[in-house]
Amino acid sequence: MKYYEITGELRLPRVIMGCMRISQMEYRELENLVMTAVENGVNHFDHADFYGNFQSEVRFGEVLANNPSLRDRIILQSKCGIRTTGFYDSSYEHIVNSVNNSLKKMNTDHLDCLLIHRPDALADVDEMARAFEDLEKSGKVQWFGVSNHNPLQIQVLQQAVKQPLLFNQMQLSIMHTPMIDQGINVNTRFEGAVDRDNGTLEYCKLKGIVLQTWSPFQYGFIEGAFLDNPEFPEINQVMDRVAEQYGISKTALAIAWLVRIPAKMQVIAGTTKPSRLLDIIRGAEVELARPDWYEIYRAAGNRLP
Ligand SMILES: NC(=O)c1ccc[n+]([C@@H]2O[C@H](COP(=O)([O-])OP(=O)(O)OC[C@H]3O[C@@H](n4cnc5c(N)ncnc54)[C@H](OP(=O)(O)O)[C@@H]3O)[C@@H](O)[C@H]2O)c1
Repeated sequence: MKYYEITGELRLPRVIMGCMRISQMEYRELENLVMTAVENGVNHFDHADFYGNFQSEVRFGEVLANNPSLRDRIILQSKCGIRTTGFYDSSYEHIVNSVNNSLKKMNTDHLDCLLIHRPDALADVDEMARAFEDLEKSGKVQWFGVSNHNPLQIQVLQQAVKQPLLFNQMQLSIMHTPMIDQGINVNTRFEGAVDRDNGTLEYCKLKGIVLQTWSPFQYGFIEGAFLDNPEFPEINQVMDRVAEQYGISKTALAIAWLVRIPAKMQVIAGTTKPSRLLDIIRGAEVELARPDWYEIYRAAGNRLP
C-alpha cells in the first residue's frame, strides 16, 4: 500500500475502507473485513454519524471493543452535518453532539478526523470555528476537513477556523467525472465544460488538500455498480480488454484508473467483501499507461475536444 505523508504524525493510505454499508453484516464477517483491511495496509476507516440508520458506528464499535489493540493502529474518521430528518446542520450544538455520539457508539475517546459532510446554506463559520476549537482542545478530534465542498466554500470556512482543513471528500468514479471533464473541456461549448464544482481538483492540488474520492464503482448518484452492468456495455468491453492486458480484474482497474490522476487522492471503497477489498488494494498499486487511461475515459461516454 502506498501512503501520503501529510504531517509527521499523519500517514494516509491510498485506499480507505468506507463504512456506509456495514450495518447489516454478521459480526464475524465484519471483523474479518476490518482485519483484512488493516493487515493489508488499509488502516483508515470512514464513517458518518447516520450511516446504516445510525448503526454503522455501533457495529464498528463492537469490533473495536473486542480488539483493544486495534484503535491505536487505525485512523478513525467520521462526518457530521446531515440531519436525516431533511436538513443540513453545521451548528455548534450539532457538530459537538454528533462527535460525542460517534465517540460513544465507537467505544473510543477521540476521532482522528472529522469532516463536515455537506455545505450547510445556513452555516455560521464562526460558530463552526468554536466547535472545532472545543473539539480539538478537549482532545476529541485531531484533524479536520470537509466533504462535497467547492474551493470558495473551503476558503470561507478556512478563514474562520484555526485548524487546517486537510481533507475534502468528493464523488469520483470512471462513470462520474465532472471534476475532470471541466479541465479537459475548458473554454469549449461541449457539455463537459460545465463547471459543477469550481475547480475543486485543481484547488485541492494547489493547497495540498487530500481528495478522498467516494463511490469508485457507482454510476449516477450512488445508483449501482457499473462493472458488469449490462446498461454500460462499452465501458465494460474496454475495461475487460485493458484489465486482461494488465493481468488484473476490472475492479482493480477501476481503482488504478482513479489513482493514476496526479493528486493526493485516497479512494474510499465501500465493499463488504474481503476478496473485493484485496482486489481494490491490488489496483491501487498499478500504474496505467496514458493511452489506456484516456481510452477508458472515452469509453465512459466522454469526448475529447
Ligand atoms: N461524503 C459523501 O457524501 C459520501 C457519499 C457516499 C459515500 N461516501 C463514502 O464512500 C464510501 C464508498 O461508497 P460506496 O459504498 O457507494 O462505494 P463503492 O465502493 O463504489 O460501492 C460499493 C458497493 O458496490 C457493490 N459492488 C457491486 N459490484 C461491484 C464490483 N464489481 N466492484 C466493487 N463493488 C461492487 C459492493 O458490493 P459488495 O459489498 O458485495 O462488494 C457495494 O455494495 C462509503 O462507505 C462512505 O464512506 C461518502
